[in-house]
Amino acid sequence: MAENGRSAEWNGRKGEIWVVNHERIDRMLAPLGRAALDKAAPKPGETVLDVGCGAGTTTFQLAEKVGASGSVLGVDISEPMLSFARRRAATAAPGLPVRFELADAATYALPRAQFDLLFSRFGVMFFADPVAAFANLHRAMKPGGQLCFVCWRPAAENELVSLPARAVKGLIPPAPPAEPNAPGPFSFGDPARVTSILSAAGFSHIALEPFGCRMLYGVGETRDAAIEDAVEQAFETGPFSRVLAELQGDVREQARKAVRAGFAERAEDGGVFIQGNAWIVTALVERI
Ligand SMILES: C[S@@+](CC[C@H](N)C(=O)[O-])C[C@H]1O[C@@H](n2cnc3c(N)ncnc32)[C@H](O)[C@@H]1O
Repeated sequence: MAENGRSAEWNGRKGEIWVVNHERIDRMLAPLGRAALDKAAPKPGETVLDVGCGAGTTTFQLAEKVGASGSVLGVDISEPMLSFARRRAATAAPGLPVRFELADAATYALPRAQFDLLFSRFGVMFFADPVAAFANLHRAMKPGGQLCFVCWRPAAENELVSLPARAVKGLIPPAPPAEPNAPGPFSFGDPARVTSILSAAGFSHIALEPFGCRMLYGVGETRDAAIEDAVEQAFETGPFSRVLAELQGDVREQARKAVRAGFAERAEDGGVFIQGNAWIVTALVERI
């Protein structure tokens, strides 16, 4: 997809979906974001760049850590998500040292040697030219600064995709194999590729740590309601929804039934939990 196509996507229905569902998305991603935040360990007074900050949840969390003597800049290409983040800053998080810029992190002329920490929760896997994008971000880092982001391991290791995909196997023709390195949520699944991108962009001491957890995916008053909620999400918002959305008539009904049965196996008191598997990626900036 062309770069402006990707921007149109995050500025269109996808951006709106993230705004409307921000509470449930935050609930689902919370353990992964927290693991990255703990790893990054931002200190009071630091300046932080939150790349692909979306609705701003991690921007606010980072700002709480760096305090009034520090600052956090959130950048994102999605106007609806950034407007929402700004509204939250004014209402839910007044006084926190945050700023938001509507900008493409890959090319935006950031101030040079400005940031102690480059952070991202699932916001760096969408660059058409990741080496150029990370080189651009590297220029904005102070010598001695650090990078810390969380990204998904391959789709096959994440039940966001693998659970509905397994459920509909045999019901629909197999999709042509996806190009694993194409920009998208799972494009940083291969640790060798991530290492090579960051190294070519100028980062050093690159490390990837696996992090897996149970993610709360479906919620409801009853077990059935939670399962139905998970099915709804898989069909409407999840990364496999593109495939499911195309199904019509009987096949769609059969697919719903099969996906529901898959989520029923993951239902327990409190909701439907699925396995999420990510990398926590760290690196350093030695010189600029
Ligand atoms: C999966 S969402 C994550 C949002 C947020 N970090 C969170 O955890 O809730 C990915 C975000 O990256 C943003 N994004 C994608 N490409 C971008 C780019 N080139 N520059 C800045 N933001 C980008 C999208 O608009 C979207 O908000």
